[in-house]
Amino acid sequence: MKNNKAYHLLIEEALKNKVYGSSPKELYEPISYIMSLGGKRLRPVLVLMAADFFGGDISKAIHPALAVELFHNFTLVHDDIMDKAPLRRNQPTVHKKWNDSVAILSADAMMVKAYQELCKAEISVLPALLDIFSETAVKVCEGQQFDMNYELQNKVSIIQYLKMIELKTAVLLGGSLKIGAIIGGAREEDAQALYNFGKHIGIAFQLQDDILDVFADSEKFGKQKGGDIIANKKTYLLLKAVEMVEGNRYMKEELEQWLNAPQFNPSEKVEAVTNIYNFLNVKELATKEMKKQYDLAFTFLEPIPVDENKKRELISFAESLMVREI
Ligand code: IPE
Ligand code: IPE
Ligand code: MG
Ligand code: MG
Ligand code: MG
Repeated sequence: MKNNKAYHLLIEEALKNKVYGSSPKELYEPISYIMSLGGKRLRPVLVLMAADFFGGDISKAIHPALAVELFHNFTLVHDDIMDKAPLRRNQPTVHKKWNDSVAILSADAMMVKAYQELCKAEISVLPALLDIFSETAVKVCEGQQFDMNYELQNKVSIIQYLKMIELKTAVLLGGSLKIGAIIGGAREEDAQALYNFGKHIGIAFQLQDDILDVFADSEKFGKQKGGDIIANKKTYLLLKAVEMVEGNRYMKEELEQWLNAPQFNPSEKVEAVTNIYNFLNVKELATKEMKKQYDLAFTFLEPIPVDENKKRELISFAESLMVREI
């Protein structure tokens, strides 16, 4: 089993040689732009790791891994339009650098290219891969729509929030592992167990993303700090804050005023809501839930009958995700 850096290198090598097309340049330049801005490449690494985990040939997992990374970047370009985000990976988002129409269409093309990469998989596993990929992709759309709905909805429960992040984020981590597992020749029940492991790691990952959105070191983070606060995103932090200000009339009024303000100075809102979060210590509660999901993930990994040494790589990769700063 290779270490995480070796898988990462394989992905970067494969991406470096990719040509997406040339004309019209407004369609293809944004694809090269977003794909070459880096990013952690978690999902394609998970595909390779899972294939290797079950003793498969990693070279057969490269194209499906690229498919997952292309799909992920497609979702980011659309997500940044939906979230009105100005920055991604420390650079202007595609819709800011070009415009919304260019961002929509170039991302659409990325989605198609993702399927083209996936179709390069071996014919014996292709129907199964197409099933997982398509099922996952639709779930991501469902999650993204819940995310948008909840921006405008006052009452959102923690259960609804957890389901929303499972759909928009976690299923793709689980799906990446399952795709790799199938390429690696895993039994269905083991591929499913690895999927569940990835799903709970993914829920923990999105909880961490919500925490970083408010509390990260902005220079490292590479996204607009407080974007979730500006958009009234129903994050774990906000839901807990809303719950906790119930007994504090003054703070309740202040929080509600910011949530309902039709117009506001964005940095003032971010500062005020962050102060409320700090006062209530909601970051600690979100971290606790993140750890709970992380521990839950391991209950799915443990029973898989694979050598402990092989599990170690996967575990250390999961560990590194929980302490990430970007
Ligand atoms: C960002 O994903 C979107 C979320 C699901 C939180 P990543 O944090 O994996 O983004 P990159 O690809 O590393 O930039
Ligand atoms: C990301 O959620 C989910 C998808 C892109 C599908 P966020 O909106 O929190 O991701 P970032 O913070 O913009 O990367
Ligand atoms: Mg976003
Ligand atoms: Mg979003
Ligand atoms: Mg986020």
